[in-house]
Amino acid sequence: MRKKTVIGGDHVRATFYCEDCIAGMRRRLEPGSIDVIVTSPPYNLGTRYSTYDDTISRQDYLDWTRQWIEAAKGVLADDGSLFLNIGAKPSDPWVPLEVVSAIRDLLKLQNVIHWIKSIHIPQADVGRYGILSDDLTVGHYKPINSPRYLNDCHEYVFHITKHGNVKLDRLAIGVPYQDKSNISRWKRAGDGLHCRGNTWFIPYETIKNRTKERPHPASFPPALAEMCIRLHGLDRTKLVLDPFLGIGNTAVSALGLGIPAVVFEIDREYLSEATARAKAVVEAQEGRGSGRK
Ligand SMILES: C[S@@+](CC[C@H](N)C(=O)[O-])C[C@H]1O[C@@H](n2cnc3c(N)ncnc32)[C@H](O)[C@@H]1O
Repeated sequence: MRKKTVIGGDHVRATFYCEDCIAGMRRRLEPGSIDVIVTSPPYNLGTRYSTYDDTISRQDYLDWTRQWIEAAKGVLADDGSLFLNIGAKPSDPWVPLEVVSAIRDLLKLQNVIHWIKSIHIPQADVGRYGILSDDLTVGHYKPINSPRYLNDCHEYVFHITKHGNVKLDRLAIGVPYQDKSNISRWKRAGDGLHCRGNTWFIPYETIKNRTKERPHPASFPPALAEMCIRLHGLDRTKLVLDPFLGIGNTAVSALGLGIPAVVFEIDREYLSEATARAKAVVEAQEGRGSGRK
């Protein structure tokens, strides 16, 4: 794997750097040049990455978090958005909250989004819409066998900005009114959509062979990155960054939306998987004529 790999053509391209993101953001990117950052750093929960050691002390981890956030802040546009995905584990639920507290003086926490991985909806609670024929339990969760802890079915996505006043394209990821009579009742409901709110149900794609199809211990679904980019606003997004790329889901989403991306990852194998995925997106686009979605 070379240090720098570019996938794509004149229309839209993603630039992949195999290097430490703190040095990389400082060295390779112009100040204020990034509109949207979607990223998921290591969580310091002892995840077994191929290269990164996820078992450093909590204080070292929080110090390092401040360092990469400072580098990210330097390259983020004044009206840019940083979507920071971070999860916990039942026996250590503090990590996301400690991370966001540790950077409180650096940036503003504009929204807190809950990425829901699995949920149960009783038919009776759906009420008069009558669209469920039974109770519904959907999504994936890591089962734990514990008398103390609940299964962990969500992760945080902190929406962080420089001044706390970034305008969002809420209806770009809006949801239809269930009760259509609201459409005429609410003034701004003309297009039949309302804001999705901050609970996003995004299950992982079901796969048969984890090693082959999702060769990474802590990836997020591409749909998560896509929703973040759409929420910031496609018209206002010229360049997307992921400093902790993993197997490439942010790059794949950005390319799929016709938006250039620049990304960093220290692990060669993850990066090689990421570039292969990105190539497949570009090839599919070339096959059907590319452009913004
Ligand atoms: C939680 S994973 C990201 C997964 C990614 N969102 C995906 O969907 O595949 C964090 C990644 O950060 C990488 N990493 C750790 N330290 C890094 C650093 N200093 N610079 C760049 N990448 C780093 C790890 O190798 C790991 O793949």
